[in-house]
Amino acid sequence: MVYKIVALLLLKTSYFVFWLRLYISSLIEEERFVSWETSQETHDKQLQHELRLLGNLPQHIAIIMDGNGRWAEERSLSRTQGHREGINAVRDIVEASSLLGIRYLTLYAFSMENWRRPRMEVTVLMDLLLHYLRSELEELHRNNVRLQAIGKLNALPKNVQKQLFDCIEIMKHNTGLTLTLALSYSARWDIVRAVQMIALDVRRGKLSPEDISEERFASYLQTHTLPDPDLLIRTSGELRISNFLLWELAYSEIYVTSKFWPDFRRYDLYEAIRAYTKRERRFGKTSQQILEEQTTEKSSLKRILSALHS
Ligand code: FPP
Repeated sequence: MVYKIVALLLLKTSYFVFWLRLYISSLIEEERFVSWETSQETHDKQLQHELRLLGNLPQHIAIIMDGNGRWAEERSLSRTQGHREGINAVRDIVEASSLLGIRYLTLYAFSMENWRRPRMEVTVLMDLLLHYLRSELEELHRNNVRLQAIGKLNALPKNVQKQLFDCIEIMKHNTGLTLTLALSYSARWDIVRAVQMIALDVRRGKLSPEDISEERFASYLQTHTLPDPDLLIRTSGELRISNFLLWELAYSEIYVTSKFWPDFRRYDLYEAIRAYTKRERRFGKTSQQILEEQTTEKSSLKRILSALHS
């Protein structure tokens, strides 16, 4: 009988200790977590405020992150170190975009052609990606970021795939910035894949050739949940699209900076956005037409506002 009581007490104590530990660790976790908004510096807040005042911020920014290798070479470092430093740039740009209220950010992290690089470099890039997903998950999730991925994802190593899909699943209901990683991505591959699926649907009688419009075609692309990028940024000064979002970039504004990706930080992003807000997006129309449209929009807005006030 005494043994039973002692055993029961021990059991209850260990349960109690277990729950106490869990409670304490959640408190510590809570304390450790500081949202990006809370920790944002005053100077950065001011810069973002000024950008917002310019109006007309891009809804979707796509970035070709180039120059990790050359950044490292310039410093007599290994390419690995260049990629590692590139992750710090990713962190800063994701955080700044989220704080600024950019809705979509798409990063070209690994192209299908990148598989042709030396095996060692590919392994390093995959390890870095895995590490990034593991270490950033909590912070991204708590800051309401939604993660997505495009590309031939089943070509990625199994452990990367698992981590990636787990992260996507955990963050799928978030409503803040949509961060899309292009991994093992090729725009031509995606276009061909879309054509194959359309052909199958035609063969099955689900779709007739006359119904294939631009919108219908785009709905077969992996990017169908994203609006077309408003702004494409490419670092390291190269003037190429490199098989990135070929269909989707049709009317995007392009901004190229000579900075290598590891040096690219939020202030460079703000510079790119500032340049974007000064561009006139005509979508094939004339400047005069755009001006007239804006005037009509403004006057109808005025009419709605005065109707609301009266
Ligand atoms: C281009 O630089 C960059 C890449 C091929 C990879 C980009 C990857 C990262 C920034 C790190 C991982 C990303 C995420 C999202 C976790 P390059 O190697 O082609 O440079 P080079 O043109 O100077 O040789």
